[in-house]
Amino acid sequence: MAVDMELEKVLRPPEFPQAPYPPKVITLANGKKMVVREVTRADVPQLLKSVLPTLFIERDYYNVVGARVYAELIAWQYYRVQNEYVIVGQVDGLVVGIVNGRMYSPKVGMSLHTLAIDRGLRIGAHLFAAKMEHHIEYLNQDEVLIVAESPIGFRRWMIEYGLEPTNIPHELGGAPSYKLTRELYFKSKPRLVVGDRPVPQALMDVAMRELTVADGAAIREKIAGLKGR
Ligand SMILES: CC(C)(COP(=O)(O)OP(=O)(O)OC[C@H]1O[C@@H](n2cnc3c(N)ncnc32)[C@H](O)[C@@H]1OP(=O)(O)O)[C@@H](O)C(=O)NCCC(=O)NCCS
Repeated sequence: MAVDMELEKVLRPPEFPQAPYPPKVITLANGKKMVVREVTRADVPQLLKSVLPTLFIERDYYNVVGARVYAELIAWQYYRVQNEYVIVGQVDGLVVGIVNGRMYSPKVGMSLHTLAIDRGLRIGAHLFAAKMEHHIEYLNQDEVLIVAESPIGFRRWMIEYGLEPTNIPHELGGAPSYKLTRELYFKSKPRLVVGDRPVPQALMDVAMRELTVADGAAIREKIAGLKGR
């Protein structure tokens, strides 16, 4: 697609400096190693393939979250969103979860979404923790604004972290945001934020070689069980 760079300068939101997220590895409850790493805009077309099947799964609000993640990935690919980042979890190269967020301002983070494509292993919980780690420890922000779009999300974030309610409308639909402060993050960190650095080179090589995507039927089965309900 031909791009008019003069016009792009007007259409693209200006960005604040944004530190990278250093990769880490987490040993899951089944003993498998999940590499957690930041991806780039070039990875979006491949990631979209792993999100697409979720758009049609009503269970646990996967459709609501999946459709929004899909749109946010494309907006990021084409520079239509300010200071977004995307972090993925991979097991043997396979994408098992995706999280994203953005810098609302240099000091305030906006948590966008958490999507677990494999289930029953707290993959979503680990990736959400990585996202909070990124905002507070690497982007060096003071607080993160968060909403839940599903009851499982509410249990995982609001209850497990004891997030503080606010009346600040969140940019995901305007619901009142909950807040993770630096203090709350460091209090929760020993209990909820895990992973080792650096990632052994052999594991990193597999993760970087390719973002492998399970086929649609396998994704539906992992998320919703054999009957796909
Ligand atoms: C919310 C979410 C990220 C949490 O991911 P997670 O920490 O890996 O947790 P899981 O989804 O595996 O499991 C959550 C619960 O559902 C149960 N569950 C439901 N369907 C399951 C399935 N097919 N396989 C295994 N467990 C399942 C689990 O037993 C677990 O129960 P627990 O909370 O008592 O441990 C994930 O459920 C998800 O992506 N949901 C859809 C999108 C969403 O709601 N995102 C958050 C928006 S705020």
